[in-house]
Amino acid sequence: MSTTFELDTSTSRANPTPSPMKRLTVPHIRARKVDGETKEPLVMLTAYTARQAQLLDAHCDLLLVGDSLGQVIYGLPSTIPVTLEMMANHGAAVVRGSYHSVVVIDMPFGSYEASKELAFENAAFLLKQTGAAGVKLEGGEAMAETVAFLSRRGIPVMGHVGLTPQAVNVLGGYAARGRSDAEADKIVSDAKALDEAGAFAIVIEGVVEPIAIEATGAVSCPTIGIGASNRCDGQVLVTEDMLGMFERVPRFVKKYEDIASTIEKTVATYASEVRERTFPGEDQTYQPKS
Ligand code: KIV
Repeated sequence: MSTTFELDTSTSRANPTPSPMKRLTVPHIRARKVDGETKEPLVMLTAYTARQAQLLDAHCDLLLVGDSLGQVIYGLPSTIPVTLEMMANHGAAVVRGSYHSVVVIDMPFGSYEASKELAFENAAFLLKQTGAAGVKLEGGEAMAETVAFLSRRGIPVMGHVGLTPQAVNVLGGYAARGRSDAEADKIVSDAKALDEAGAFAIVIEGVVEPIAIEATGAVSCPTIGIGASNRCDGQVLVTEDMLGMFERVPRFVKKYEDIASTIEKTVATYASEVRERTFPGEDQTYQPKS
């Protein structure tokens, strides 16, 4: 396959791309749900590095620079310690590595809850530092005013309801939500509040299926499910989870590959070749020109 180095001004970069493509936009994503229906479900995956973004980009509509990078990349116990700088650095790498998908960056815990003004300042910082198209923040009705404030000032916002990992200390764990009537009603009203506030899409995470379906039907913007329902308007998974990088994953993850085993086998081969002095071989060494 030939590559080109044409500068695509809509992505502001000269990446080698298999075929020059215009980047999707937030209005494209929002417009995929028409009169409550999304004919072609939205495909979103998390990405944290430029190379990962390059590999995922052509297959996805959205790349999410999730604050799950706290656990996945940094080995942290939760998303709570993730900083704005981490999100900015990984966000910039993902934008550099992609030319097709809409890139959305998670606002980390503590960067948006205190006030809508603080949220604007930090969301603007993320967009300026990275070139991403939008931000995602967790919370429903309590965040609606902030979502409206940001959206009206040029910052597209993706909402996130149901199991919201940044609230782990309040929720007491990562169990599925929506089993009681009160929880179910809250999830649906949270989704409605975000939709009315102008969210361009809403992640529904770890929610019992009938409630995920009800919330999807109750909002005009697309919902993106994770541990929710295949009747959401799209799906997202943490890429490392679906590739099989980790042994322990939430029940809702489908492991499409077993990358961890492949890495382990490959590294074991390398280690034994080094120890046997069979690597580097002739092909990997330089000799003086004769
Ligand atoms: O941080 C993240 O990766 C997320 C997805 C799981 C939706 O928020």
